[in-house]
Amino acid sequence: MASYKVLGICGSLRKKSYNRLALQAAAELMPNSMQLTIADYSEIPLYNQDVQDRGIPAAVTRFGEEIRTADALLIASPEYNFSISGVLKNAIDWMTRIPVQPFKDKPVALISATGGPVGGARHQYELRKVLGSQDALVLTRPEIFIGACYTRFDASGKLIDEATRKLLADQMLAFESWIARLARV
Ligand SMILES: Cc1cc2nc3c(=O)[nH]c(=O)nc-3n(C[C@H](O)[C@H](O)[C@H](O)COP(=O)(O)O)c2cc1C
Repeated sequence: MASYKVLGICGSLRKKSYNRLALQAAAELMPNSMQLTIADYSEIPLYNQDVQDRGIPAAVTRFGEEIRTADALLIASPEYNFSISGVLKNAIDWMTRIPVQPFKDKPVALISATGGPVGGARHQYELRKVLGSQDALVLTRPEIFIGACYTRFDASGKLIDEATRKLLADQMLAFESWIARLARV
């Protein structure tokens, strides 16, 4: 049976992030062939070419290696001011400056959880554009936009909204097929 290492990337660094909880829910709902590990890229500095010229920071190299060795990426991120969160965009920008492009041909699925009603749709389309610039292969559907996220999880952090659980389980099945299909190409 195939076994896929999925790297979870959360676009919010805060400990109680709803997007981190969404990644944990995805881990619970994904098929047995997939195993999720959530990356910690919090030590990546702000991109600055002067820093790059002094040598790629260890946290950047480490994150790049985690992406490169994963079979697939699951990115869960909030929308900030209708766009990609700064920390996520910064980390992606760094990834495009290291010697071997880690996003190239990588299967990716997207989730977003936001306080607003639109569930992060506006940022997801920007994120698709940015990932497309790096030749990442982003699953098209099902799309998951978790609006009013503070109503969808209980106090222990469990995703309790049944419709969202079903959608997430469906997305994980589609993601498994997507990874398998790209592995055959
Ligand atoms: C700087 C900033 C900008 C935000 N902009 C948006 C926005 O454009 N749309 C939206 O739905 N929520 C917006 N929010 C609210 C976030 O969706 C909400 O804080 C969410 O819980 C953050 O995700 P997290 O729980 O994973 O940290 C914004 C929050 C911050 C801090």
